[in-house]
Amino acid sequence: MNLKSQLEASLSPSQLRLIHLIADSAAQSGFPLYIIGGSVRDLILGSAIQDLDLTVEGDAIALARALAKRHGGRVTAHSKFGTAKWFLPKDLQTESSDTLDLISARSETYKHPAALPTVMPGSMDDDIRRRDFTINTLAIRLDGAHFGELRDDLGGMDDLKQGIVRVLHAKSFIDDPTRMYRAVRYAERYGFTIVEETLALIPPARPLIEKLSAQRIRHELDLILEEWNAAAMLARLAELNLLQPIHPALTFDESMRQRLTNLHTYRSLQHLSPWNITKGEQMRASDLGWLLWLMSLSQEQVSALNDRLHFTADLLAALFAASKMYAVQLSFVGLKPSQCVERLEAYPLAAVEAVGYAAKDPRVKECFDEYISKWRYIKPHINGDDLKALGVEPGPRYAILLRRLRNAWLDGEVKTKEEEKALLQTLLNSSSASP
Ligand code: CTP
Repeated sequence: MNLKSQLEASLSPSQLRLIHLIADSAAQSGFPLYIIGGSVRDLILGSAIQDLDLTVEGDAIALARALAKRHGGRVTAHSKFGTAKWFLPKDLQTESSDTLDLISARSETYKHPAALPTVMPGSMDDDIRRRDFTINTLAIRLDGAHFGELRDDLGGMDDLKQGIVRVLHAKSFIDDPTRMYRAVRYAERYGFTIVEETLALIPPARPLIEKLSAQRIRHELDLILEEWNAAAMLARLAELNLLQPIHPALTFDESMRQRLTNLHTYRSLQHLSPWNITKGEQMRASDLGWLLWLMSLSQEQVSALNDRLHFTADLLAALFAASKMYAVQLSFVGLKPSQCVERLEAYPLAAVEAVGYAAKDPRVKECFDEYISKWRYIKPHINGDDLKALGVEPGPRYAILLRRLRNAWLDGEVKTKEEEKALLQTLLNSSSASP
């Protein structure tokens, strides 16, 4: 089968130009060149190719260096893995990337169950057989006259057409237990079925989950929490008993499912201006997922999960904060804006956002939403310099006066600069200017 026309239709002109240029150099060096794995799978399913990761049956580093010599740019290489990154010269950069990865075909073996693979240079056949699922083994050859040729050694095309997730061999999950999480992610993302024979390989591999490092298992869960239908994926993982083996505190109940069901809506809201969330404040998509998922856990449970999963410091602080706020969310009902602000300012913004999204009571929601979009920006017009000019002795009284003025703005006690000035005068005149 030749996929030349699909390839040409789904690559942008600049991607296509780049590919042809590399394919020419590969042909000259006598190296077969392929796109393989996720990009081919997504191409056949009709999505655009984002990552142009290319696999060379031969020396990818030598090819990258030859390309840079001929066309410019520079190369960094990992000789241990036979991989090279080409920092593209300006005229070859594409809309989606200014670098390109070239990978030498490799074989991977596992010293013991759940170990990281030992990587060795290999043939394209090895590279195909080292992979997780048949749907990820499809390759399209690019060099010379082979441009567009589909290589389907293991029946990947049939499985892709039928919507099937299938491992390549019976030891796949034992070698790499993260693949059980990947299987669920692909199945739910594409609406595919995990075949019975593959499902049957889960129970013997389940005890190996505890051998996975914090970083590896967290990475898989991060990938899931970045997906728009993370809720369905976690529900499936719970059903297959793949959450509790990570840690007994990791559950997925109905309230968690409901909170995560709207993850994609929340995410698009974040980008809308009414939220007033600046780029620098935007949290990682997976962090929002973690917060929505785990906010109903106790402080002790969050701490226990952190021992297993090693959250980043920022996420951990936000998880503790979200758990605290979620537990007492109804205590935000009936507060004055200044009281909401005073309480919410003590917490990381990410946690406030997540609990605000999840809150069901509209009065709680309002407090959180208004805080995020408006109240946190409200400041009095008068500042420390003005107080100094008015002869107020510098000291802790400054902060007290300025907070009192800010609260007056927040609660609608003053509405103009003049009213603010008048209030300040009253505060200064009264012998005890405490708030
Ligand atoms: N792979 C594997 N086992 C893993 C991880 C990855 O065999 N535990 C292989 C798969 O063949 C996969 C390729 O490495 O196609 C690249 O992995 P990755 O970038 O994680 O996945 P993609 O296929 O690009 O899919 P997606 O980004 O959609 O998750």
